[in-house]
Order: sequence, then structure tokens, then C-alpha cells
Amino acid sequence: MLELFPETALVEDRVLSVGGLTAAALADRFGTPLVVFCERTIRTRAQAYRAAAPEDALVVYGTKAFPNVALMRLLAEEGVGADVSTLGELAFAQAAGIPGERLVFHGNNKSDEELRAAAHAGALVALDAPDEPQRAHAAGVRRAMVRLTPGVDAATHSAIRTAHVESKFGLSPDDAIAAIRDAEELGIDVAGVHVHVGSQLTRADESLLSVDLLAAFCKRARAELSWTPELVDLGGGLGIPYEPDESPPEIDEYVHALVDRFHGAWEEPARLILEPGRSLVGPAGVTLYRIGAVKRSGGVVYAAIDGGMSDNPRPQFYGARYTALLANRATEPTAGAYRIAGKHCESGDVLIDRVELPQPHRGDLLAVPATGAYTLGMGSNYNGVPRPAAVLVADGNARITRRRETVDDLLRVETE
Ligand SMILES: Cc1ncc(COP(=O)(O)O)c(C=O)c1O
Repeated sequence: MLELFPETALVEDRVLSVGGLTAAALADRFGTPLVVFCERTIRTRAQAYRAAAPEDALVVYGTKAFPNVALMRLLAEEGVGADVSTLGELAFAQAAGIPGERLVFHGNNKSDEELRAAAHAGALVALDAPDEPQRAHAAGVRRAMVRLTPGVDAATHSAIRTAHVESKFGLSPDDAIAAIRDAEELGIDVAGVHVHVGSQLTRADESLLSVDLLAAFCKRARAELSWTPELVDLGGGLGIPYEPDESPPEIDEYVHALVDRFHGAWEEPARLILEPGRSLVGPAGVTLYRIGAVKRSGGVVYAAIDGGMSDNPRPQFYGARYTALLANRATEPTAGAYRIAGKHCESGDVLIDRVELPQPHRGDLLAVPATGAYTLGMGSNYNGVPRPAAVLVADGNARITRRRETVDDLLRVETE
């Protein structure tokens, strides 16, 4: 199970450490819940993308996975830009020093303010609605690409499928042809075309199919509009293992398969863009929780943690499954199966339905791997719970990259 943890994770004398620091030391210093990110894992994964993609390709981080200035700065050091879809995400990317030529601006319903900000930042704007060429032009956008919905059903949870017929994202081939024509008539440089089939993809098949359909679209656009893309954005989506029995493709395997397929299907030169989110930061994150109440209810033994759906709503959103270990007694023999409940006022606030652990006691530390993406970034303040801190660890050092919220933070936006 240690393979689900960041690459610096070790268990020595029963105790889990990450980045050269024990879970107990991190929890004592920063409190719990705490999302611990391993710097080395993020760098390794960014380098894997850069190495597998063609040299001139642009890799941009899907900021939605976890908007965090320090992490994005680290990714920027590895040559990775940002895919943003709101004013907020753009602000994070800019605070991390990511230049306009490494920014892609997405969104199925961009506001005029967002279009103006994207234009001002010099981001590449993904046109995503029939009236967007006109609106983008009015907002000052001069360079864009069109987001194609190829009609591919990705093998993933329906909430994170994005390129099927009836998707709210992108444009059908007919509408995408019209958008290119409209945008070019307005004087926008339509530099490219984009597809993104979904997230947490555990195989490449549907991504490869989308590459074929994208190439077919390019051939149609060349025939009908004499237009060929200078940029081709193949989106993100590569999945990560959450449990020991899961084995999605490795980064290099997935990227090579996509790139080869693209070159086989489209003979004209084009610069590639890739937009990974989860597969960059997901495996780098471990969440530490303190165990509180342990009790039996019917045939189930609950171990309750000091967080839950407010710091990781993926189990509720997607039926996501996790595993965990006791970070302070990792190698002790298991005593049975436990249900890990959160502290929120919902019976559905269960982080893990069933995990084998040594007998947990109040005060033990639970470490949940693969929690770097779509966890804290999707968190809430449900039950008036302040969101946890995030720290970055490397070589025995830790630094806070997002401070823990306080109840005062929550009260600050209230008015009498
Ligand atoms: C357009 C786009 N690009 C990239 C991503 C990142 O996806 P993932 O985190 O699965 O790599 C998403 C998220 O679904 C997205 O909508």
C-alpha cells in the first residue's frame, strides 16, 4: 500500500514519514487535518510529463485539482503553465508568476469580466459557446482555440465525463466549424483546437478515440475553411491509483500513446498542449487526520476523524474509494475492518467504508494517500468547519503553503 503514498514515504519503526518528517511531527506542529504534499513527487511527475511530450509541447496544470500558489510556483519551475477557468484560478496562476504564454483559459460560461481578464493576461482562450467568438472579440481576446466535443463516453464517473454527446462543455463539430469561421471573421487568431474527455481515466482507449475524432475534425476544417491548427490541446484526465488494486497507465505510457496516435492521424505540424491536473499533484498528497470516537453500531465499527466531507467530498460526489493506514502504528497487525466516519452532521459523511487497521484508539493518526487533487480544492465550510492547512515537505523541511482557516475567517464574511 506504500506505493499509493508519495515517493518519499517510508515506514520505519512502525511510523510513517513523508519528505523526511514523521506524520506525528507534522501533525504536532501544524495540527490536523493536514494535507501534506511531497515536493519531490510533484517535481518527478512534472518532469515525466515534460520528458514524454514533444520538446516544444506546452504542459499546463489543471488548476482546479488544487489551486495553490506555492505548488503552482514549483510546477512553473519545472516549466509547467496553468489551465484556469475562473478569475480566481487566474489570480492563483498569476500570483505564481506564470506568464500569459503559458496560460490556457477555459470555462463553459465565461463572464465578460473573465474574458477581459483572460485577454489582459495574454492567455489562450478556449471558445466554448456559439456566441463566445463575438463576446471574446468584444472583450479584447485576440488569440483563441475552439473546444471540440467529439462525442466520446469516457470510462469514468458520469460527473467527470466531459466530451460525450450532451456534454455542457465544448462545441459539436458543426458548431466548432461555425465558431472558427465566426472568430476568424472577427479577426481573432484561432490558433488551435482542444479536447478533454474526462477525469480519472484509468485507460487510454477513449482518449485515443478522441484523438482520432479530433484529427477527423481538423481534416474537415481544412477542407471547409482552409484552416489548420497551429496548436492541438489534448486536455488532461489521466487517472491515479487510489487503492492498491488499481493500475492506470503511467504518465510516459499515456503521453506516448496519445502523441503517437496524433502523429499517425494528422500529418500537418502542430504544437501540442497537455493539461494534467490530478496526475501531477494527486499522488503527492497525503491527508493526516486525528482519530477521535471509536464505537460499534450494529455490525460496524466506526473510527471517527477530525475532518471529512468538508476537506474531501470525493466519496460523496463520486463514490470515491480510499484506503488508509495508522501513521503512528503502521506495521502493527490489523485487528479488523473499520468504517472511517467524518465529523459532519450527515450519515453520508463517510471517508472510507471499510479499511483494515490495527485497533484504532483516540489520538491515533490516520494517513490517507492520493489526496492531493480534488480534495481540499473542493472543500467547503459545511458545519462551520474551517478548512485545513496544506504543507509542502522536502528533505526534512516543511512549509505551510495554505494556512489553516479559523472560525474568525468564516465570521469575516458575515454581516449583521
Ligand atoms: C479542460 C480541462 N483540462 C484539464 C483538466 C484536468 O483534468 P485532470 O485533473 O483529470 O487531469 C480538466 C478537469 O477535468 C478540464 O476540465
